[in-house]
Amino acid sequence: MEMRINPSLLSADFANLQSEIEGIPSADGLHVDVMDNHFVPNLTLGLPVVEAVRKVTPKLLDIHLMINDPDRWAPAYAEAGAESVTFHVEAATAPVKLARDLRSAGAKAAMALRPATPIEPYADLLGELDMVLIMTVEPGFGGQKFLDLCLPKIRRTAELIKKTGGTIALEVDGGVSAETIERCAEAGANTFVAGSAVFGADDPDAMIYSLRSQAESAG
Ligand code: DX5
Ligand code: ZN
Repeated sequence: MEMRINPSLLSADFANLQSEIEGIPSADGLHVDVMDNHFVPNLTLGLPVVEAVRKVTPKLLDIHLMINDPDRWAPAYAEAGAESVTFHVEAATAPVKLARDLRSAGAKAAMALRPATPIEPYADLLGELDMVLIMTVEPGFGGQKFLDLCLPKIRRTAELIKKTGGTIALEVDGGVSAETIERCAEAGANTFVAGSAVFGADDPDAMIYSLRSQAESAG
């Protein structure tokens, strides 16, 4: 199984994003956490920064919107050239329409679930999606402890995806590190966000390589 590591720029040096990105050539994609101080308590960055990042890298941009009213704001990230845009289903009013809007704007459409949100009510939406993101911490901050209670949901989501034909990516985000990535891969995840584990490492690029091989052996 091909495993992808998308480092989270939330743990990078925001004053030097270009050089931070150049320091991780092994990344499969760049995970960008957009927070609005409403859906989550934290405030990070928005469209202008994503547009600026787009100009300095050809890497796949994996935008994670932790914002209210993604129905209104998410398509602009696709129009800005992001390859994948993830909205939280808890914040979306019309997730089917939103997923279709994202795809028509040229991006992959992805749906995220907070730790306490079950996947089952959304099983019928899977055909509209290119990726499901399972949060393994409460969204809002980097550097939190991985929540093992999310593992059964990763497993159940992987099973539902298999039933639809299996082309939907399954991403995990929050507390993913050398200690936890194998559990996630074993449960069925194939795309891994890692913020503090990558940017807190002495050699961030070597850490990506090593996380990927751990996931490949466990998955
Ligand atoms: C948290 C964000 C994550 C965060 C992960 O709300 O969605 O992407 O950057 O950071 P770590 O890997 O440090 O838990
Ligand atoms: Zn994220």
